[in-house]
Amino acid sequence: MSFPDPNTGEPRSAHADERHACDTASHTAPVDGAGTAGAATPVPRRIALQLLSAGAAATVGAVVGVPALVAFLSPGRRKAGSEEWIKVTEADQVEIGVPVAVSFVEPVSDAWVESRVLRNVWLRTEDGETFTCYSGVCPHLGCSFTYEPDTQRFHCPCHHGLFEGRTGAVVGGPPPRGLDPLPVKVEAGAVYVQYKTFRIGVPERAEA
Ligand code: FES
Repeated sequence: MSFPDPNTGEPRSAHADERHACDTASHTAPVDGAGTAGAATPVPRRIALQLLSAGAAATVGAVVGVPALVAFLSPGRRKAGSEEWIKVTEADQVEIGVPVAVSFVEPVSDAWVESRVLRNVWLRTEDGETFTCYSGVCPHLGCSFTYEPDTQRFHCPCHHGLFEGRTGAVVGGPPPRGLDPLPVKVEAGAVYVQYKTFRIGVPERAEA
């Protein structure tokens, strides 16, 4: 159906007015959310960039920060109190009835540094099967000491500390306690030790 256009006087169809109304409605922003189900609300460019930046920063922080935090909080490869058994020698290499000094290299690492530390222990056996082991660190101030067969005592040259050769008890000098014993075992003819470090200069034996 057609009728005169009020502006031009020319005939126009009712469908043309319907198309115009639809076109006008499609370019008009909704007043509220009602009746616009499924329509996406545009996010301002500046806010979108801020969200992207925040997401990227969080991702980088997780990638870099989490492993560093884990490494910082993790115990070292071998710390005081470790129960790792370290092979130090063959059992038949230890003379019967005489303390024997044994040195070995222990790999130690903390969160940041890998290192190899030279350790010293004293082994003693009366039968070649059962062993005792003492740390080679003087419990006074940490010097190394020797064994004197004549007196059957350990002697620390730093301050002339003396320890009984069989039990490790203090028998002279300033050391506040006896030698520090370490766990030791024999397996398949080899001697294994659990090396530990202790606080020095104090009467009580406490792992450092
Ligand atoms: S460090 Fe051994 S007696 Fe002082």
